[in-house]
Amino acid sequence: MKRVAILISGGGSNMVRLVEDMQAGGYATPVLVASNDPSAAGLEKAAKMGVPVVAVDHRPFGKDRAGFEAELLKPILAAKPDIVCLAGFMRVLTPDFVRHFEGRMLNIHPSLLPKYPGLHTHQRAIEAGDAEAGATVHEVTAVLDDGPILGQARVPVEAGDSPETLAARVLVQEHRLYPAVLRRFVAGERGPLSL
Ligand code: GRF
Repeated sequence: MKRVAILISGGGSNMVRLVEDMQAGGYATPVLVASNDPSAAGLEKAAKMGVPVVAVDHRPFGKDRAGFEAELLKPILAAKPDIVCLAGFMRVLTPDFVRHFEGRMLNIHPSLLPKYPGLHTHQRAIEAGDAEAGATVHEVTAVLDDGPILGQARVPVEAGDSPETLAARVLVQEHRLYPAVLRRFVAGERGPLSL
């Protein structure tokens, strides 16, 4: 059974959906939920679902990104994951960290990549007057928000949308997309899924 570790920074709504789907579908097992923020609400949600959790606070490391990642790697490697899913994980990872999981680390990004890598994606889509927005699950590579696309979900941008109303519409689709892509990834399918 494939072992999946999930990295979060906040509420972990995508993590919850992934854990639920694995526990319901039995196609993989969530072996760890790790966060860079000890107060991340998702940690308690994961613990309640019976998933081992750990927090490695990035703040004491300051600008020492490598030092933080070396600490974060310990519990992740100890959990022996086959796949690592970034789900609302808000730290940029160095190429060294990514190299540990090359080809088996996924991320969900709230835009239709390659449009809008980085932050404030919904605001940028609205300001650009885009008719559509959405989310992308992609393989994580050394370049931020840039790896092979594994799946996308599209939503309409409605007149009068704010970044918040658009984010809420996209998040509903993220919760459908990420589990669907993980199931396919575990099954060895890589062709991009469109929802
Ligand atoms: C979501 O918009 C996701 O696309 C981004 O982080 C946001 C919060 O995700 N990566 P979650 O509720 O913590 O899963």
